[in-house]
Amino acid sequence: MTSADHALADRLVHAIDAAPTLDDALRATVSGLADSAERSDWVGIYLLDGATLVLHNEIGKPTPHTRIPLSQGLCGAAARERRTIVVDDVREDPRYLACSLTTRSELVVPILGNRGQVFGEIDLDSDQPAAFGPDARRLVETAAAALAARWDRV
Ligand code: SME
Repeated sequence: MTSADHALADRLVHAIDAAPTLDDALRATVSGLADSAERSDWVGIYLLDGATLVLHNEIGKPTPHTRIPLSQGLCGAAARERRTIVVDDVREDPRYLACSLTTRSELVVPILGNRGQVFGEIDLDSDQPAAFGPDARRLVETAAAALAARWDRV
């Protein structure tokens, strides 16, 4: 990671820690990532409610997928498997649930509590293939960890 990437991660973590409520922290995460991850065309956070991921907030074109069963999509897979999923070409991945015909790549990072529970996930889409490399992944995983730490405090 470059020093600019570190500065970006620090600003995002600070915004998450300083947000007055968890709700504000979730919104600050999406707006911070939308401003910083210049290769993304859509950023959103889903929260897990029972066996359904429910869209909390988003920046980008409105998605038809505001509720995603855990059994479906890349979003469902990341939550079920409790791990980051990076897809360089969504057209080649049968798990992909299309939100926009122009989307080509996607990064989904689960927000995991310290006992392994899934609070939700951060989802980024890009209209460019292979838009999300190791630096983007680390940035979003850092944001997910900062959010999870807030949750664990609630
Ligand atoms: N593509 C996701 C659905 C959510 S949209 O990207 C906003 C998936 O495959 O689960």
